Amino acid sequence: MENEQKKSIHKIAVLTSGGDAPGMNATIRSIVRSGIQNGLEVYGVEEGYLGLVEGKIFKMERNSVTNIINRGGTILGSARLPNFKEDEVAQKAVDELKKRGIEAVITIGGDGTYRGALKLTGMGINCIGLPGTIDNDIASSEFTIGFDTAVNTAVDAIDKLRDTSNSHQRCSIVEVMGRYCGDIAYAAAVATGADLVITSETGFSLEEVIDTVKRCQNNKSRHVLIVITEHITDVRELAKQIREYTGFDSRATILGHIQRGGQPSPFDRVLATRLGIAAVEELLKGEGGKCIGIFHNQIVATPIEEALQMKKSVFHGYKEITTKVS
Ligand code: ADP
Ligand code: F6P
Repeated sequence: MENEQKKSIHKIAVLTSGGDAPGMNATIRSIVRSGIQNGLEVYGVEEGYLGLVEGKIFKMERNSVTNIINRGGTILGSARLPNFKEDEVAQKAVDELKKRGIEAVITIGGDGTYRGALKLTGMGINCIGLPGTIDNDIASSEFTIGFDTAVNTAVDAIDKLRDTSNSHQRCSIVEVMGRYCGDIAYAAAVATGADLVITSETGFSLEEVIDTVKRCQNNKSRHVLIVITEHITDVRELAKQIREYTGFDSRATILGHIQRGGQPSPFDRVLATRLGIAAVEELLKGEGGKCIGIFHNQIVATPIEEALQMKKSVFHGYKEITTKVS
């Protein structure tokens, strides 16, 4: 029975889409190696859905993924193709896959990428989505591939900022990525002992910022550290306002795209490897339109439609932790 099921697919493809994330390469490696071990032909698609539509598809061998488990970025390249939503555009992708006899695709990316996977599944190509994004904004997984590495990068940078901030008795405002999800900010703030974290979930109040700086001044702190998610406010302007209202010298630093690069952490490599294997297994079972995540160290497959409706919970334990050590 199992063998009969396995015979039902022969050729699968893998693509990376949306913002890249450290660990995407380890995911590709896992899919290629476990796919081949299961008797599948595995194809790589360059530049996400754009490459799919343009037929940039090539056969991968076991050795195509040698020496990439430790590399940041994605060897397949990533791109954004907003009009993949349109039926005629997605149909081109289906045609390119069918021309080559490719029956199923594993897509690595964020929720936009999941939407593309759902669309293709609806058009007869079984797709499985894997959470590859530094933002940790996928509700169907406790952790996304790339988040842990991005937090490590942010913490490393913030530790350095603390040194200079402390020497000069300054307030350091550090803007981290996360699009509209505060998880990188929360984790980095706890790990660096920040005085205040500002995210779309906490909301922004200039009064709270000023009160925090004044509280630190009263406590005779030599520095103040504020971690803030992107898209909240102009951090350089905020630094000026802090100087104006408190007299405490302030500097703003935008960490930006360095958070997207670099060697994936061991945690991300292990997660990538486990999720890649699970995605291949789902396809072998004949499943499609699902995404794979991890909860309490257990691999979980969720229908993409359901996953897109799930509400992301705020980084667990953050409030309790910070109030206990403030
Ligand atoms: P992420 O996957 O990181 O959330 P994006 O939101 O940029 O990144 O989405 C990546 C790609 O997924 C888009 O460029 C587009 O090609 C595809 N995509 C996004 N939304 C849809 C949709 N509603 N239908 C089909 N494809 C989509
Ligand atoms: O989704 C990952 C992410 O790095 C977000 O944190 C950020 O807002 C966005 O991508 C930046 O995207 P771009 O590649 O367009 O600069």
